[in-house]
Amino acid sequence: MTILSRRPAEAPPTEGEFVESSTFEPMATTPQYRAPKAGIDPDREKSWLRRAMPVVFAHKRMFITSLVLSFVGLVIQVQIPKILQDAIQNAVVFHRTGLRGYIVIMLVLAVGVGIAGYISRYFLMRTAYEIEFDLRNIMYTHLSKMSFPFYDRVQSGQLISRANSDIRSVQMYLTFAPSILVQCSVALVAFGYMLSINVLLALVAMIPMPFVYFIGVEMRKRIFPVSWLIQARLADVATIVDENTNGVRVVKSFAAEQRELTTLAKSTTRLQWSYVKDADIRASFTPTVQNLPQIGLALILMFGGWLALGGRMPVAAIISFSLYVVMLQAPFQMLGQIIMMSQRAAASSQRIYEILDEQPTIVDRPGAVDLVDCRGDVRFDSVKFKYLDENPLVLDDFDLHLAPGETVALVGRTGSGKSTAARLLARFYDVTGGQVLIDRKDVRDLTLASIRGNVGIVLDEPFLFSVSIRDNIAYGAPNADLDDIVTAAKAAGADEFIRELPEGYETVVGERGYTLSGGQRQRIAIARTLLVNPPILVLDDATSAIDVQVELTIHGALRELMKGRTTLIIAHRLSTISLADRVLLMENGRIVADGTHAELMATVPLYAEVLAQGEREDGARLGTDGEGRDGAGGLAGFGMNPEPNGTWAGEDL
Ligand SMILES: Nc1ncnc2c1ncn2[C@@H]1O[C@H](COP(=O)(O)OP(=O)(O)OP(=O)(O)O)[C@@H](O)[C@H]1O
Ligand SMILES: [Mg+2]
Repeated sequence: MTILSRRPAEAPPTEGEFVESSTFEPMATTPQYRAPKAGIDPDREKSWLRRAMPVVFAHKRMFITSLVLSFVGLVIQVQIPKILQDAIQNAVVFHRTGLRGYIVIMLVLAVGVGIAGYISRYFLMRTAYEIEFDLRNIMYTHLSKMSFPFYDRVQSGQLISRANSDIRSVQMYLTFAPSILVQCSVALVAFGYMLSINVLLALVAMIPMPFVYFIGVEMRKRIFPVSWLIQARLADVATIVDENTNGVRVVKSFAAEQRELTTLAKSTTRLQWSYVKDADIRASFTPTVQNLPQIGLALILMFGGWLALGGRMPVAAIISFSLYVVMLQAPFQMLGQIIMMSQRAAASSQRIYEILDEQPTIVDRPGAVDLVDCRGDVRFDSVKFKYLDENPLVLDDFDLHLAPGETVALVGRTGSGKSTAARLLARFYDVTGGQVLIDRKDVRDLTLASIRGNVGIVLDEPFLFSVSIRDNIAYGAPNADLDDIVTAAKAAGADEFIRELPEGYETVVGERGYTLSGGQRQRIAIARTLLVNPPILVLDDATSAIDVQVELTIHGALRELMKGRTTLIIAHRLSTISLADRVLLMENGRIVADGTHAELMATVPLYAEVLAQGEREDGARLGTDGEGRDGAGGLAGFGMNPEPNGTWAGEDL
């Protein structure tokens, strides 16, 4: 699908704004999906860091270049105190040479440091974003493979926050920790120089070092749980915000804004508490870690000063010595940060791996074959099904056979398992017992893609994307031309109202299609499925929000479309059931009656009862009077008592 008619995600840059530097995707090009270069190591026994290593190694060239250059820059920097010492000794104290040579050398070195610093930072940031890009891709790729049971369970806010803030914190650590370590390694070089100047003084300067270790260990212990809390609470807040925006219509219709705000406030206060706790721990440890080199400095001044006063050490050496100690300051400051980052990243990685380690449950079996030239023979053979192990059976010995080309209506009380049966046909879930067969092949032996390509389901809750109506209808067949799209829309009774919209087929619908009415959404959803032209069609309450008059007008087109394909219509409305050749009545997870509408009406009291209930609900949902029918409810009021010969008295096609 081109992005031509998609609403741009953000406003394009105005004139003069990042015109040259940015690589702005021009409209009408389809950005290519670039698969991540590596994945997370699946071995759960390994530490989180080792599991993430393949992703880091995938960018090793750029990363190592950055680290090497950063090291080079720092090594050059380390030379400066030594040169300074020489300059003071040779030019200032003993007047053996002029200062100019030293100044030139210093300037050249400064330029070198600048260039190395620039390139290393540039590559570091690029590596960081490449890693982040890969991690996010790994996560989304994984999510796209996950099956329905997973999505029944998880909250989208959790997924969003794990894909955003958790990935960010892992990325930060993966890229910045090595860079900080390189900077710390310069401390070793500096220490080497210090040793070469005066061994004793160098050792004195290092006295505070062991404390760094002890403080570090203590800090990690305290920071980890807080980091975990922060990430978990960020996700809680994301979930509330997500539900409030998606459910804003419910919130407002119950005037529950204040209550929702309170819930959000509670959750943000909890988040704030953990942030403050985190800051508290940082505040109590960081200054100590940062100032340990100052203690070293004091010791040097004391001990070195004493040596210098005694004439046992030149003053210039003490100056360069103290510069080296000051140089240690930056790595020490960062050491504190690295510990914080590592703890947050460890917590975040756990949350990310929790999702990545979960395997999709509905997958192609090894050796699964494609369903080709589907005839449309559908059979449920003693199917038992429960959503969760601890739940009761939803389908219990469910038997159903649809001959190729047959149109069958499935009727039953609410909650009797009709939608569940439809979901099993498309293998959204796997049966607990028995078999679902298409063309006599168990759906578990067929590839998922080919099942979904052959079974078109119009779900009871039509979800539309915030793209044009045209792209919504073409969702399953992105290359369809407009003529086909219009034909499908006509068959679904959508063409007329689409044309009346300001931009016709190019009208972009609001999120989830909320700018359309429920019936309009359903009609677009029907058109979307019809366009794919599946040999097996399932309409799950697909016309429940379409008013009866409109529904009757599209029956002709629908009937035409149902010719030659196997259709399962889940319905509770008599007019919809009238499209079917045969009616199946479902109760407590199994088929209890099978026959024509007339037969069932005559012989199965439950059938009339279920239909009457459906009609009542329909009346309540649609508001009866405006829908061109009398509001008496029930079959009699609907004027659709079947004639003895089983024809549809109320039907007017
Ligand atoms: N995703 C799910 N996870 C757990 N239980 C579920 C899930 N979906 C449905 N159920 C349960 O399974 C049973 C059957 O639901 P199903 O949606 O199949 O009913 P239905 O016949 O389509 O009802 P309706 O006419 O109201 O659409 C219900 O008791 C429901 O609570
Ligand atoms: Mg249902």
